[in-house]
Amino acid sequence: MSLLDKVKQKITPEYTEIKKCVLAFSGGLDTTVIASLLHEMGIEVVTMTLEMGQHEDLKAIEQKAKEFLKIKKHYAIDVTKEFATDYISKAIKGNCLYEGTYPNATALGRPLIVKYLVEIAKKENAQAVAHGSTGKGNDQIRIDNGVKALSNLHVIVPVREWGLFRDEEIDYASEKGLPIPITKKKPYSIDQNLWGRSIECGPIEYPDQEVPEDAYEWTVNPTKAPDKPTYAELEFENGIPITMKVMDENKKEIDNAKGIDIIKKLNEIAGKNGVGRIEHMEDRVIGFKTREVYESPAAIAILNAHKDLEKYVLSKDELSFKAYVDNLWADLVYTGKWYSPLKRQLDIFMDETQKVVTGKVLVKLYKGSASVVARDSKNALYNINVATYDKGSVFNQEEGRAFTKLYGLQYTTAYKIRYGESD
Ligand code: ARG
Repeated sequence: MSLLDKVKQKITPEYTEIKKCVLAFSGGLDTTVIASLLHEMGIEVVTMTLEMGQHEDLKAIEQKAKEFLKIKKHYAIDVTKEFATDYISKAIKGNCLYEGTYPNATALGRPLIVKYLVEIAKKENAQAVAHGSTGKGNDQIRIDNGVKALSNLHVIVPVREWGLFRDEEIDYASEKGLPIPITKKKPYSIDQNLWGRSIECGPIEYPDQEVPEDAYEWTVNPTKAPDKPTYAELEFENGIPITMKVMDENKKEIDNAKGIDIIKKLNEIAGKNGVGRIEHMEDRVIGFKTREVYESPAAIAILNAHKDLEKYVLSKDELSFKAYVDNLWADLVYTGKWYSPLKRQLDIFMDETQKVVTGKVLVKLYKGSASVVARDSKNALYNINVATYDKGSVFNQEEGRAFTKLYGLQYTTAYKIRYGESD
């Protein structure tokens, strides 16, 4: 039986309503086969490829869509700036790390894909959108529900719904003469954007084995990183890095960047110093655990700096409550709830807290670590005149005596009554 016949057996009645469909197209095996099958089923396919800082060859993907798949209309859009401004910046404000570890690069990109899929579908009068997610991952949850929130469009997820297997896809592609990069079997499945690179599959699926060196592309092995540190001085305004000064080991300026270029440059510089390798035993939305590997050099350096600056300018109560909110926010993004009311409400809280997160942070990049070594802010709650043990302290130590006594009154009394010896 041909793959088309197999697929035809699986389609549901809703397909009769679908005349035109917008496909999130990467040019990889899955989306190439999906485009061709949809076309064969008589559905007009409009393809969409977004550049989000992953250095896609947009021209080559467009050529593939038009030449080999006979796609009449293809959208190639560079949304890197929007990704940085409306998505990554929120992640920075929220110190976003899923389960305290993963900067959520892939997860943050999905709602933006959703936004454009829906926009283009409306413009093209399409009845459906389609994407290449599997039935095992988080992306189906992020994309399907995002589309459902923003529209009433049908969502087609062929790999999941038609039960497509990799080998039959490869056979189908070669029969049809579709160009697929399968000459040497790549063991990894990669998703990347400006905020990081996600690596899955192949040897990574065996958590009892160390991740092979060839999984990494953005970072050097920390043992092979330069013997001298590089410094990055990040200037934050309202929680967002606005300028960066790069310095050599003697603090001599060697480079600088502003805006979105900070992330691009820091991915390079921090990556060269072995910063940003992440290994994670991750809890997927679909109940199982997976071992995931990431490279996020800029994210790690920026989040370290941002967290440090927050500690300098926010009060203890704000910090402890915000740590809870940060964690919740990262969880909402990971679990595909970008368009949920709670996520929106937490954004407002985040923005309010960031009004004072302004200042400079010096990060030392050295053999895999991005450690904060100095910070400065006009909003610092730290006051040397209070904190110093040297002469010139304005702190009246005598006040400590009464404070200490009253502070401990309850628990010293309780201890005596409950556990103390009676005298
Ligand atoms: N586990 C991560 C997430 O759900 C990354 C998924 C990356 N996808 C890939 N094809 N490598 O966000």
